Amino acid sequence: MDAIKEYIQRTGSPCAYVYDLKGLGKRAKDMKETLPEQCRLYYAVKANPDVRILETLKGIVDGFEVASAGEMDRTGRGPRIFGGPAKKEEELYRALWEQDVTLNVESFHELRRLGVLAEERQVTARVLLRVNLEENVSDSHLKMAGVPTQFGVEERRIPALIEEALEYECIEICGFHFHAMSNNLDARTHLAFAETAVNKSLQWKEDYQLDTSIIDLGGGFGINYWHPDEPFDWDEFARGISDLDTEGHELILEAGRYMTAEYGYYITEVLDVKENHGRHFAVVRGGTHHLRLPAAWKMSHPFHVEHRETWPYPFERPEVKETEVVIAGELCTPNDLLVRGEYVERLRAGDVVVFTHAGAYAWTISHHEFLSHPHPEHVYIT
Ligand SMILES: Cc1ncc(COP(=O)(O)O)c(C=O)c1O
Repeated sequence: MDAIKEYIQRTGSPCAYVYDLKGLGKRAKDMKETLPEQCRLYYAVKANPDVRILETLKGIVDGFEVASAGEMDRTGRGPRIFGGPAKKEEELYRALWEQDVTLNVESFHELRRLGVLAEERQVTARVLLRVNLEENVSDSHLKMAGVPTQFGVEERRIPALIEEALEYECIEICGFHFHAMSNNLDARTHLAFAETAVNKSLQWKEDYQLDTSIIDLGGGFGINYWHPDEPFDWDEFARGISDLDTEGHELILEAGRYMTAEYGYYITEVLDVKENHGRHFAVVRGGTHHLRLPAAWKMSHPFHVEHRETWPYPFERPEVKETEVVIAGELCTPNDLLVRGEYVERLRAGDVVVFTHAGAYAWTISHHEFLSHPHPEHVYIT
């Protein structure tokens, strides 16, 4: 991308997140345009809460999925779904007060707390009951269905949850919430999951004569970090979802990673190139305290090399050629690895590594203060 090359050329020692806001806006519009009328596209703020990203998406997406008061501050008013298994009292109050927030109920205890708070305030709590499905729905990276987790209420207890919720006049059951996986790469699996969620919701609606209007599928649309040229097939998903009869329910999608990952780049300079016990290492300015995802998932983050010809020293430039290289960061731990042995044509000290797909679960999930190194710059292409 020209803007990135230009940034690298004009910066002496690059270490930056670069966000392509133009590309991001187009991505969000394209995603929305392919979806059928019954779908509402929300952005899951946790994927990247950068204010410029939120500004770009506002006006394109139908709403935001938030998981804290901090995320509510960042999005401002407008349709929001508030999820998370540990909601604090002040957050519940605030969500009730703002009225444009629909709350996920994640447990019986949370339902009871909400019931009391809403009654006390004389307001109606609009809720989605969060379901942990009986069956595992994918072989995706992280699973939140069919396995014990801290999220939601297991499917077999949902009837009891509905019955209890119906006892509160101040609680309105708007529908069900099913977020169940992270980084699923297979559109057909996602469609099968959507069909299950719709069938279950319609059954509960009928069994309890509910006045529901929302079925929330959550997010989990994946990014193929291992084979970026084989991405999640969004178009196939969008076509398939059009065939589902939701009997008038809105189908909410809370996309995070799939929306922003490809529009963020982490760019950093190679400080050293060396060999150790038969392996080649390139050590960069920055590391997993800026981009923790590859360490968390024990993977090689996708990257390419931008060569720079300037070399300030009077001695030979260290380099590797046509071999596998490990790319490590500046921290004092052997776990500070961004790339765990990938082929490069050539990589020299002073070259720049561009980590692609770094726009989601990247900067904000990283342990920035470890070793007190400087933070990267944040640059926006508009
Ligand atoms: C409730 C909920 N919705 C949506 C998302 C976004 O998921 P993703 O970024 O995988 O699309 C998450 C992520 O953890 C979530 O917890």
